Amino acid sequence: MLFHAVPGMEKVFRTDVKKPKVVLITGPPGAMKTTFCYTVMTYYLKKSGEFGLYTTLEESVESHLANMESLGFHLTKNLQISDISDLRELDMLLEEEEEVDYLQLLEKMLATFKNQMGDKFSFFALDSLGALYSIMEDAKNMRKRMFYFFRTLRSYNLYSFVVMERSLSGESHLLGNEGFLADGIIHLGIDRSRGKLVRYFQVEKMRTSDHSMEKIAFEFRNGQMKILGPLFE
Ligand SMILES: Nc1ncnc2c1ncn2[C@@H]1O[C@H](COP(=O)(O)OP(=O)(O)OP(=O)(O)O)[C@@H](O)[C@H]1O
Ligand SMILES: [Mg+2]
Repeated sequence: MLFHAVPGMEKVFRTDVKKPKVVLITGPPGAMKTTFCYTVMTYYLKKSGEFGLYTTLEESVESHLANMESLGFHLTKNLQISDISDLRELDMLLEEEEEVDYLQLLEKMLATFKNQMGDKFSFFALDSLGALYSIMEDAKNMRKRMFYFFRTLRSYNLYSFVVMERSLSGESHLLGNEGFLADGIIHLGIDRSRGKLVRYFQVEKMRTSDHSMEKIAFEFRNGQMKILGPLFE
């Protein structure tokens, strides 16, 4: 019932998408990657009563909350939001300017959360992978490290949404080969072909799921995502 928690999604995902899944949420700037991710996550957590962890590396917790509030979202008790400063706090010994392995800190945060919440912890989001790569001093062996990171996410039996910037024609990988490693890819975009701007998402890949491959138009009003249906070219 991951996507089915959002009304209208049953037409896009004809079968349920089961845990664990690592899903890339891709798209150009302003395509509503953050909003899409946050929407699916809050709908799911509200319905299931389980716990989620949302990590925003592009902005602070305060600015993320302010943005989501302006879109009509209200705080959900079972969703914790953390940013870079929360990650740094996990490492007590860190000096102000010291080189930090943020990927390692993320894994530490996940492990702590899993220990506290057990099976109730079911949803993780990382916003965004590009921001993570930018703040990582040492981007050596990223392919290998992403492979193990995604494997860790699956071993915790989580739905994991990983936001990744991508241009319209761009392939779905940055440093590692994330597109191949991930279980799913949902691409968000803006269509301009009919003289007006229409937001859409497209499920490019979702392992073990029977899903539509079409571009699905959607709009966002008063904290509600409205699925309008397939965009015909
Ligand atoms: N209150 C609102 N109602 C409807 N749409 C809004 C509202 N506030 C912002 N938007 C739209 O949402 C867009 C930003 O959405 P979001 O931050 O989810 O995109 P993003 O893909 O994560 O962007 P970025 O690449 O900057 O991270 C804005 O550019 C604007 O078009
Ligand atoms: Mg964003």
